[in-house]
Amino acid sequence: MAVAVITGAGQGLGRADALRLASDGFDVMCLDLNLDAASETAELCGGTAFACDVTDRDAVMAVAEQIPSCSALVNNAGIWNFPSILDVTEQQLQSVIEVNIKGIVWCCQAFVPKMRASGGGSIVNMSSGAAWTNSPNVGIYPATKAAVESLTKTLALELGRDNIRTNAIGPGLIVSDGTAANFQGDRAAERAKGVPMGRVGAPADIADVVSFLCGNDSRYVNGQIIYVDGGITAGAMAR
Ligand SMILES: NC(=O)c1ccc[n+]([C@@H]2O[C@H](COP(=O)([O-])OP(=O)(O)OC[C@H]3O[C@@H](n4cnc5c(N)ncnc54)[C@H](O)[C@@H]3O)[C@@H](O)[C@H]2O)c1
Repeated sequence: MAVAVITGAGQGLGRADALRLASDGFDVMCLDLNLDAASETAELCGGTAFACDVTDRDAVMAVAEQIPSCSALVNNAGIWNFPSILDVTEQQLQSVIEVNIKGIVWCCQAFVPKMRASGGGSIVNMSSGAAWTNSPNVGIYPATKAAVESLTKTLALELGRDNIRTNAIGPGLIVSDGTAANFQGDRAAERAKGVPMGRVGAPADIADVVSFLCGNDSRYVNGQIIYVDGGITAGAMAR
């Protein structure tokens, strides 16, 4: 059975990705800082849970040693904090860079050798529409996601000949465990007004595209960023 590794699989988009890839037939490895949450996801999708901080290279390598192979890697774990640039602290800066950028590098170092050994695979990095639709007081989160998109293209160029495709998804306004507070009460309807399709997204909207990128239908798609945002970035990019 093909193996999929998903980081940040304990809740939100990562959990939806795990459920979707399991229904596609993958044996899903659920990595998260929070082992209880990862175990819940693993139970729901018949996968395996690992307590793993993606910023800790040794911990990521230790997971790789325990799994038989890897055909799909979803670098989903991500965090955010939203101070103004002038107020951002060392700790805020460091934590976002560590998870959003360094975590992807360590996971690729750990799992790409497994992909090579099994003749190829698919890497999906979680970016954000925020990489391009900047607004004030969002700290360095958008900058880290722009870096994720750059990393995606570099990986696509480096790994294409190994039959390993690397793409990224840029979610828009998605109601997840981590963002639910932003959509309470009237706020979901209010925020939906800024979306060309008139609604905010659900984790399954992202998971379906993860499924496409991890499957054979996307076999010639490499180095692309797909914004799954109901059209928000279409307007931003037209400017
Ligand atoms: N929800 C949205 O609207 C949205 C929009 C754009 C981009 N994204 C991106 O999608 C991804 C998932 O977002 P979400 O809304 O599901 O977030 P979430 O907060 O609901 O879930 C994130 C998961 O990642 C785990 N995690 C955090 N740091 C980790 C680490 N160091 N190692 C391992 N696991 C770690 C958390 O424990 C949690 O289970 C993130 O990369 C986020 O930046 C989300």
